[in-house]
Amino acid sequence: FRKPVIVFEGIEGSGKTLHVNHLTKYLKKKKIKFIKLREPGGSFTSEKIRKVILSNKSNFHKVTDLLLYLAARNENLENLIKKNYGKKLILLDRFVDSTLAYQHYGMNINYQFINLINNFLIKKIKINLTFLNLVNNKNLRIRLSKRKNLNRYDRFKLNFYKKVQKGYIKISNKNRNKYIIIDSNKPISLNKLKVIEEVDKLIK
Ligand code: TMP
Repeated sequence: FRKPVIVFEGIEGSGKTLHVNHLTKYLKKKKIKFIKLREPGGSFTSEKIRKVILSNKSNFHKVTDLLLYLAARNENLENLIKKNYGKKLILLDRFVDSTLAYQHYGMNINYQFINLINNFLIKKIKINLTFLNLVNNKNLRIRLSKRKNLNRYDRFKLNFYKKVQKGYIKISNKNRNKYIIIDSNKPISLNKLKVIEEVDKLIK
């Protein structure tokens, strides 16, 4: 059977990367073959694009940013994802929904345009499950203030993140059975268990 594609989404400080790392350890322990990628970045060439996008010195027009995110995605798809699709479990820290949430719902770039390019790039690749990590405003403020090494996007205002998170919720509502909501205001240990439980269902 096809090995699943699992995506973690959510705004900064939502605990997304923590779950990706925890799941990575779990899969290693279980000796399940997988590849893990983050976006932007992930593959060698895509990491180069990440540096350009997220550098504090960059100040691109929002559509330039969009095209760079998509360019980084294409490198991952062509170099790693398509080759491993169905053969190994694929774990993605951000994917197509990030672009809709940030560049459409956050930055007001045309939805259809983003969707069209996303679909053109991913072609037949199907996502089996997306964990959407949600966070409340109070916790978001606390978490953002604790983060060191702020990148360009981390400097955006709270309101921007609220818009992006609302966008994520809208996206997930279009396809409820492909999304698991992780309420990051709940205890981490509980959420970790929930993630493992859901992944177990997919890999059995
Ligand atoms: P992260 O590595 O902390 O998740 O940061 C990546 C940043 O890039 C984050 O601010 C979200 C942003 N981003 C977009 O705006 N659009 C995209 O398509 C992707 C993949 C990321």
